[in-house]
Amino acid sequence: MPIRRQSSLMAEALRHMPQGVAENYRYWGDDKTVFIENAKGCRLTDSDGKEYVDFRLGYGPIILGYRDERVDRAVVEQITQRGTLCGFSTALDTAVVRQIKALCPNIDKLRFANSGTEAVMGAVRTARGFTRRDHIAIVEGGFHGLYDEVMWKSDLENWDPSSGLEPGVIAFGAGIPQRSRALVDFIRLNDFDTLEQLFVNRCDTLAAVILEPIIGNAGSIAASQQWLQRLRDLCDRHGALLILDEVKTGFRVAKGGAQELYGIHADLSTYAKAMGNGYPVAAFGGRAEVMDMVGSHAGGVVHGGTYTANLVALGAASATLQILAETDALQTIDRVGAQIRDLLGRVFSAAGIAHAFAGPPAMFGIHFTPCVPANYRDWRLSNTALYQRFAWQLIENGVMLEPDSREPWFICEAHQDVDLGWLEEVATRSMRCALEAG
Ligand SMILES: Cc1ncc(COP(=O)(O)O)c(C=O)c1O
Repeated sequence: MPIRRQSSLMAEALRHMPQGVAENYRYWGDDKTVFIENAKGCRLTDSDGKEYVDFRLGYGPIILGYRDERVDRAVVEQITQRGTLCGFSTALDTAVVRQIKALCPNIDKLRFANSGTEAVMGAVRTARGFTRRDHIAIVEGGFHGLYDEVMWKSDLENWDPSSGLEPGVIAFGAGIPQRSRALVDFIRLNDFDTLEQLFVNRCDTLAAVILEPIIGNAGSIAASQQWLQRLRDLCDRHGALLILDEVKTGFRVAKGGAQELYGIHADLSTYAKAMGNGYPVAAFGGRAEVMDMVGSHAGGVVHGGTYTANLVALGAASATLQILAETDALQTIDRVGAQIRDLLGRVFSAAGIAHAFAGPPAMFGIHFTPCVPANYRDWRLSNTALYQRFAWQLIENGVMLEPDSREPWFICEAHQDVDLGWLEEVATRSMRCALEAG
């Protein structure tokens, strides 16, 4: 068998980068890490020339398709006519904020950032500056980027659900200061008891609750309308801010993100991913009274950065948001996502597998369990081993996805070209092999 090019690329990469990758989450093992040669539409080609239909979409930013010409053209125009960055304001700053405000009525004022992590840091700092309180609360199973204080998690991997004990809380890894733990409380999605208790324990010390209303990092498990409303009410009553982290859901699940679906609005919101169709752009914003804390005035919240609102990022955001606002791209995504969900449902039913889908068609989670999980602990009770085997078979057969059921299937506009008959046949074959391997 010829030596695959990916193997030699990995051997070389291992000599130069820890684990041979540019960031931790790309490491799938010395022999399984994927090297991509090119991406177009909803398709990837790896370094050995193998093609995949991609449902991973770089963890969600690709909303139209890879190398979308409309977006790329707008970026090139910015670069060639204005440059990449100048460290001064441009008219495009306000123009893009106005585009966002037209889609998201929860935003009065906004600031830009370069990544979801940076947007979350800005929102949390602003909430603390506004409330003059330090504690924050996060939801079990949520993810808010690689920023020390939100890098604590319930250790469900090592938790025995039948033990009657609470799971431990651990840091994501080494290097997270232990003292940052003291500033973070956990609640469980859709669990009224932990929610009420949070506001009893921290009635006047809680700066903010930050959550993904549809947990894009726990298989798209969604908050119920009643639970989210109760959270909104408790925040109001106790002077804490509600931060909705729409880094994955923003400009994807609806033009106005998850907040449009729920009709419940945050004090502060974070956006990234779909906002720029793969270009690195992010933002945080919200109520004017809160956002006006940000600034260089005495007592203001510090926010800034060399690359903030660079013209590559804003050129991409402007073009992407215009397409999402003016075309039926998101309707197409919903339609195709629903068709793909339906065909997968047929495959699972034919194989006799109990399954449930969570979240909206634009980013749905698959759970091998009879009922839709209500929170992260329910996810732990699903058949994750079968999902992994199924996912690896799909990858083998030319369908790219994350082999972990916590990562949803992302749909982009370009998926409308996928041959659904082919996909159903591949999914059927992959499930058969996954069951045999089990
Ligand atoms: C909900 C959420 N918030 C924040 C982040 C961090 O974003 P980034 O990777 O751009 O720093 C992510 C990344 O996946 C995310 O899903």
